[in-house]
Amino acid sequence: MTSKVAVVTGASKGIGRACSIALAEAGWTVAVGYRSDEAAAKHVLVALEAAGTPGMTVFLDTTDEASVTEAFRRVSAEAGNVTGLVNNAGFSQDGLLLKYSMETYDKVMDTNVKGAFLCARAAMRGMLREKWGRIVNVSSAVALHGNAGQTVYGASKTALVGLTKSLAREIATKGVTVNAICPGLVDTDMTSHLDDRARAYYVDQTPLGRTAHLEEVSAVVRFLMSDDASYVNGAVIPVDGGLTA
Ligand SMILES: NC(=O)c1ccc[n+]([C@@H]2O[C@H](COP(=O)([O-])OP(=O)(O)OC[C@H]3O[C@@H](n4cnc5c(N)ncnc54)[C@H](OP(=O)(O)O)[C@@H]3O)[C@@H](O)[C@H]2O)c1
Repeated sequence: MTSKVAVVTGASKGIGRACSIALAEAGWTVAVGYRSDEAAAKHVLVALEAAGTPGMTVFLDTTDEASVTEAFRRVSAEAGNVTGLVNNAGFSQDGLLLKYSMETYDKVMDTNVKGAFLCARAAMRGMLREKWGRIVNVSSAVALHGNAGQTVYGASKTALVGLTKSLAREIATKGVTVNAICPGLVDTDMTSHLDDRARAYYVDQTPLGRTAHLEEVSAVVRFLMSDDASYVNGAVIPVDGGLTA
């Protein structure tokens, strides 16, 4: 039987936490990747157990190659071959391009693009051994429609779309699918800085007239990680209430 061990990056809160729980419900042993909040990651473990499949926590700074290598080594040694990866860790800082600092640019690109590349590369070893795997990249609606003040973040999330499509073609014959989701506005720490006006603007632009529930995003990830999604590959799926329709 194929090993069902998944690494979810940035999983101590928000969308990553929700994805971890959804995958545990589907029988995945989830390694909850955390960078700064080990206690929150441990709390997620309690939810995983309640969802039916115990998991583990793993320190994983996606921008640091050594940390990524060590995290995947540990997960394979303790849980088995990694066959699932949700590249969820992300960083966003809005700002007009004219005033955008190089330091922030590097942080956005390193977290959102380099991190996904490093984790996909590390995860592929287990997938090739098992001749089966699932990679889901968490991009953004901003990759599809653009947004003033999010030029760098949008560029990073569009890069993830490119990574998804080319890698999907590269490793399909090995039994591995690679897909991306593009969420619209979800209420998490990442979006908590939005003032009422900005939030109302997004909601107004969204045909469903509201933000997404975390479970509405994690359900799509769970599907893409499942056997039912065996013929979905290289897809870029908006989960945005129609924002980019
Ligand atoms: N919320 C939305 O409206 C929305 C919409 C579209 C796409 N997204 C994407 O969804 C993903 C999850 O975001 P969220 O909304 O759930 O935000 P969140 O609650 O702020 O979660 C972001 C997660 O990423 C982790 N992270 C950041 N840098 C990291 C690094 N270098 N290494 C490892 N982990 C790192 C954070 O860990 P620390 O706490 O340790 O920094 C945190 O767990 C992101 O990729 C985001 O771009 C979000």
